[in-house]
Amino acid sequence: MEFLELAKSRYSVRSFSERRVEDDKLKIILEAARVAPTACNNQPQRLYVLQSDEAIEKLKQASKFVFGASTVIVFTSVKEEEWKNPFTKDYHTGEIDVSIVCTQAMLQAWELGIGSCWVGYYDPEKVRKALSIPKNEQIVAILPLGYPSEDCKPAAAHYLRKPLEETVKFL
Ligand SMILES: Cc1cc2nc3c(=O)[nH]c(=O)nc-3n(C[C@H](O)[C@H](O)[C@H](O)COP(=O)(O)O)c2cc1C
Repeated sequence: MEFLELAKSRYSVRSFSERRVEDDKLKIILEAARVAPTACNNQPQRLYVLQSDEAIEKLKQASKFVFGASTVIVFTSVKEEEWKNPFTKDYHTGEIDVSIVCTQAMLQAWELGIGSCWVGYYDPEKVRKALSIPKNEQIVAILPLGYPSEDCKPAAAHYLRKPLEETVKFL
């Protein structure tokens, strides 16, 4: 697929079929995540891949947005590995870095016919506790993954994008 076609056709999948994500495809998705650019190449990301019923059940106690996915990746950022911008007090790029990592995974998955939905609505402390994520990692995103169910279609919001004139200024 051409990149723009891929980017335009991807939508948030909130209903998954029972077909599991194959190991070789998961490997490709994780590889796309691995090669993402990060500030100073610090690579603060950590990825928790949940595939067992037990792990997914634990996550469900902390986040209602799993959508029946049989694979979920939880993306975190290790605080000590984040690049800190010396010009801006208390600013670090962990969330940015890990968002790029997650985006690459999401787009690679779609290229393989595997849908996902970026989930930001969760109580981080509940997720941390449920999955025993260390205190020095910030939970940045949760990505349920899988093949879209037969009747899955984009939500109305997918078609609502602001026109370029509203978001781009040529100076
Ligand atoms: C940072 C971020 C957080 C999001 N959190 C949620 C969420 O918690 N639950 C959900 O159903 N969708 C969530 N989404 C998906 C957005 O609602 C969706 O991307 C947007 O409405 C555009 O639709 P589309 O992805 O189908 O094009 C999130 C997306 C992003 C980028």
